[in-house]
Amino acid sequence: MKHTKVKDLLNSTTTLQEVNAKGWVRTFRNNQFIALNDGSTINNIQCVVDFENTPEETLKRITTGAAVSVTGTLVESKGAGQKYEIQVSKIEILGDSDAEKFPIQSKKHSLEFLRENAHLRVRTNAFGAIMRVRSVLSFAVHSYFQQRGFVYVNTPIITGSDAEGAGEMFKVTALPFDNTPRTEDGKVNYKEDFFGKETNLTVSGQLEGETFAMALGQIYTFGPTFRAENSNTSRHLAEFWMIEPEVAFNNLDDNMDLAEDFIQYVIKYALDNCGDDLKFLEGRLLEEEKSKPQADRSEMALLEKLNFVLENNFKRVSYTEAIDILRDSTPNKKKKFNYIINEWGADLQSEHERYLVEKHFKCPVILFDYPANIKAFYMRLNEDGKTVRAMDILFPGIGEIVGGSEREERYDVLIEKMKALEIDEEELSWYLDTRRFGSATHSGFGLGFERLVLFVTGMSNIRDVIPFPRTPGSAEF
Ligand code: 4AD
Ligand code: MG
Repeated sequence: MKHTKVKDLLNSTTTLQEVNAKGWVRTFRNNQFIALNDGSTINNIQCVVDFENTPEETLKRITTGAAVSVTGTLVESKGAGQKYEIQVSKIEILGDSDAEKFPIQSKKHSLEFLRENAHLRVRTNAFGAIMRVRSVLSFAVHSYFQQRGFVYVNTPIITGSDAEGAGEMFKVTALPFDNTPRTEDGKVNYKEDFFGKETNLTVSGQLEGETFAMALGQIYTFGPTFRAENSNTSRHLAEFWMIEPEVAFNNLDDNMDLAEDFIQYVIKYALDNCGDDLKFLEGRLLEEEKSKPQADRSEMALLEKLNFVLENNFKRVSYTEAIDILRDSTPNKKKKFNYIINEWGADLQSEHERYLVEKHFKCPVILFDYPANIKAFYMRLNEDGKTVRAMDILFPGIGEIVGGSEREERYDVLIEKMKALEIDEEELSWYLDTRRFGSATHSGFGLGFERLVLFVTGMSNIRDVIPFPRTPGSAEF
């Protein structure tokens, strides 16, 4: 008999049928009630074992974590909170789990403990829910762009360019370290290495994406990106996934419209398709909130917060306006910002971004027209000669979730800028071809996928929304 997914059993319209389910035991109570989970839904199905007619040997092997196959009749459940249960006629232990040794017990574990067991934490309710939501959000990303005729482009993981110019790159070398060819002064001689030049793991697919947008019109990338920034924060990963649309003929306003519409679409998609998981995560958060002092508790529950983002336009504010607000603000009575902004031109720290979103505007904010000298080389210079057509989208609880811009399409202006920043023109000659041949206004942005998943799941540490997190000092799995 073929097994049926627990999700389908729980949504069944008929009872009294003979069914088979396969999954893992979450709990086994009173030698009788198995809570069985197979990952298809947050909900377990209760399986009622006929303990009088089941050998003692078998009963002993029904332990937390064990894989089992149960066959029986699907009946309406008398128990609270569940519609159906299985009256078991046959149970087979597929894989034993030593309850003493199995790290995931039915009690609540700390997130820190679970991070050390990333390969098993997905067997908990919370991580099962998070990973299903992540998967649905991935699908929503593709669905949004595909419905609108964007072409999905796979930009290279190994590249010779540093799109962001921040120098936070993982170098790629093919040869064993001891045999790495060296120049006389002891530096790695990349000319003799696999690619014959210096390469690194990509920090962004934007530059390659731009070349495709200038042929295909509207494109998007969605793939892993790598940054060797040594920031051990709850918002940074060394390996994260980024979504980067790039659109020919879009200016900065069009770019903001696209980003806002896109984010609202994927959040709505998650609300429509992950109801049970999001409700569970909301409940988990409410529990967590109870242990916090009143003043630190969030004003909105998770679902309310997600709906709020759908129903309200993002507030669009220029960098200059934001600086004026921040200069006059004190985040709370006792304390000023750790880093006080006095001058126009300073980069915003995450405390400022979060103040603007959470305290001042109390909604997502799009900051635009940043000073040129704190942004990347490829951004379109404004007529004032000192700001660029950049935009960052800031989210409550997250800070920056999107970074994007209208691109500098004028060859001469771009070259000038590259010279000033000492960016090698030879190296980026292929990129400059977009400006040499048929250049036009174009814009795009990058959305950090994990930051989106953080927001949607209400989790607070980015390590908890990616299957196997990579952070400084940690790449265990
Ligand atoms: O602002 P960033 O650096 O922009 C770019 O890479 C542009 N090339 C994008 C573009 O215009 N096509 O990064 C974009 C987003 C950030 O807003 C943030 O959400 C995410 O990527 N991000 C990170 N997420 C997790 N861990 C990190 N270390 C991240 N660095 C950036
Ligand atoms: Mg950025």
